[in-house]
Amino acid sequence: MTPAGIEPDWYGTGFPHIWLPYTQMKTAAPPLAVARTHGSRIVLADGRELVDGIASWWTACHGYNNPHIRAAVARQLEIMPHVMLGGLVHEAALTLAKRLAGLLPGDLTRVFFSDSGSVAVEVALKMATQYWLNQGVRSRTTFVAFKGGYHGDTIAVMAVSDPEESMHALFSGLLPKHHVIDLPQDDASIAAFDQFLSQKADTLAGMVVEPLVQGAGGMLFHNAEVLRRLRAAADRYGLLLICDEIFTGFGRTGAMFACETAGIVPDIMTLSKALTGGTMALAATVARAKIFDAFWSDDPAQALMHGPTYMANALACAAANASLDLFEREPRLAQVAAMAKALASGLAPCRDFKGVKDVRVLGAIGVVELAHMGDLDALKRRFVEAGVWLRPFNNIVYLTPALNIGPEDLAKLTGAVVEVLTAI
Ligand SMILES: Cc1ncc(COP(=O)(O)O)c(C=O)c1O
Repeated sequence: MTPAGIEPDWYGTGFPHIWLPYTQMKTAAPPLAVARTHGSRIVLADGRELVDGIASWWTACHGYNNPHIRAAVARQLEIMPHVMLGGLVHEAALTLAKRLAGLLPGDLTRVFFSDSGSVAVEVALKMATQYWLNQGVRSRTTFVAFKGGYHGDTIAVMAVSDPEESMHALFSGLLPKHHVIDLPQDDASIAAFDQFLSQKADTLAGMVVEPLVQGAGGMLFHNAEVLRRLRAAADRYGLLLICDEIFTGFGRTGAMFACETAGIVPDIMTLSKALTGGTMALAATVARAKIFDAFWSDDPAQALMHGPTYMANALACAAANASLDLFEREPRLAQVAAMAKALASGLAPCRDFKGVKDVRVLGAIGVVELAHMGDLDALKRRFVEAGVWLRPFNNIVYLTPALNIGPEDLAKLTGAVVEVLTAI
């Protein structure tokens, strides 16, 4: 049945012009046409309604179409949708920067806005490199990053992401050369890490890590001690520590920011995804005072040479301010704590399935790791048939729903994972 007001004809004609992400368009199943969203639900053009288990790549942390965010964006639209930030500023951006500075740990107090997570990490790499150049240090131009990491799809950030997933070999002529090594998690990797730093520190501008969870690399968890080790090593060798909280930020792991769990303050933090509650494209690269101070000079060449056209888009900043209101007014972190319990019990039956390697939960992230992924397309189809929207990848089935998803919808998600994995 077609819901009132939805004309599916636009889709019936096919899609000869759009180019879809991560998709071999010759062989892939056609994408599902979405008519609208609400709460934790996606309404398809053919009238089916799916419970969304991944909140649109982890962005829609308060669910879709949150009335408070919608009202804030509508208000901003009346006043001013956008104005360039070169030579001009506006209230929504200044307020958001101030609120983020107040919310983030330590003296992460200078906020540079951009429009996507990849660009936010690019800016962090540029900021860290220029931090050294502005002080006359020309040798520190490379970065340490970690296997399993993912920091986006643009060229510079592919080079600090996992070599396999980011196809370093395929793009080898194009990618800058950095060092992607094992996270120091056990005796052998800790020793290798220390040895690497003792040999290369003078050439390194910094290190880049996704704190607590490497998301797109396979939902791999590490503990807070690893982050404290990175912070200590960065201090020992004088490197800058960049924490990419694009996935983990805004409550996803149980704390507002994953770094807080480890009690560390990175030198630079990147944010995006849930920053606007999944409403608009916006990202931020936030620097500690000492980073900003290295750019504070009478020399114009020492300014940060970056400026995306749509940076600090006023509609996006209004959405982000409204999203922060919701974190203040509503018990999101308590909801995440409750969700962690529900995910753990809901997914527990999967532990007994043949072919399941691991079941793990952290905050609002639930993961079932399979020994091997069979027919991925068939699995995705079965989830849709079970009434849920999930995007398993590699050998991972994961849930990252809206932080305020209702108990029934959450039970439907975990139930669908158990049901579908039982059937295969
Ligand atoms: C940790 C992390 N960093 C960076 C990115 C890239 O963000 P975007 O897709 O907005 O460029 C992602 C996206 O999944 C991410 O999870």
